[in-house]
Amino acid sequence: MAQTGRNGPGPRHVAIIMDGNGRWATQRGRPRLFGHHAGARRVREIVEACPALNVDYLTIFAFSTENWKRTQVEVAGLMSLFRRYIFKEMQDFVKENVRVRFIGDRVKLDRKLIGLMDEAEAMTAHCTGTNLTIALNYGGRDEVARATKRLAEDAAKGRLKPEAVDEETLPKYLDTCVLPDPDLVIRTSGEARISNFLLWQSAYSEYEFIDTLWPDFTAEEFARLTGSYGLRDRRYGAVTA
Ligand code: FPP
Repeated sequence: MAQTGRNGPGPRHVAIIMDGNGRWATQRGRPRLFGHHAGARRVREIVEACPALNVDYLTIFAFSTENWKRTQVEVAGLMSLFRRYIFKEMQDFVKENVRVRFIGDRVKLDRKLIGLMDEAEAMTAHCTGTNLTIALNYGGRDEVARATKRLAEDAAKGRLKPEAVDEETLPKYLDTCVLPDPDLVIRTSGEARISNFLLWQSAYSEYEFIDTLWPDFTAEEFARLTGSYGLRDRRYGAVTA
């Protein structure tokens, strides 16, 4: 990481891989779902911290396309947690002017959950504060594959000229088409990998891999990380004087 002591603006878009719920619960002798519930409570605290830190976009990785490989009990528990969370938080998001969006492939999700996701998006569509995007059944490769399929369909139907396809074309087909690319990606729990999260979008993002387990992640630590982001010199491949 290049640090030149520059004091730039904070990150406008922060994406978070919320990892470590299972270990947090195991350390307390409790089932993994206990950690996921504690993790869900942290989400609220971090969303609430965004306006003061000038973070306009917060994108969180809640369930990956690979997470279906977990036990049936854990997957069912997580799906039930998502349903309850969306139902419970929806009114507060409206009150707090938070616009909620979901990214990921909805086809494998149950109808009740999809209905709640649609409702949360519709109810907060007028909100102009923090843009909270929840990645649910999301995988970066899956997203690029789905986008490419739609792009190819448009080309086959004559709506898009193959020779006109460039770096600006594919992002228009991604789930994140209305979002800016993340400036900062944070992963908790000491693992230093991106696990198929926002692969295309994070090409030039800054990364923070921190040891804290997600249920212990606080607004103070979030503020520290967004603050140190301002010291980074983002060059996007260019040379600065
Ligand atoms: C990874 O920790 C976390 C998940 C797969 C689930 C993330 C879900 C939440 C934080 C809960 C709520 C989110 C919303 C939006 C309501 P892990 O279980 O892989 O932890 P481990 O690596 O310690 O096992």
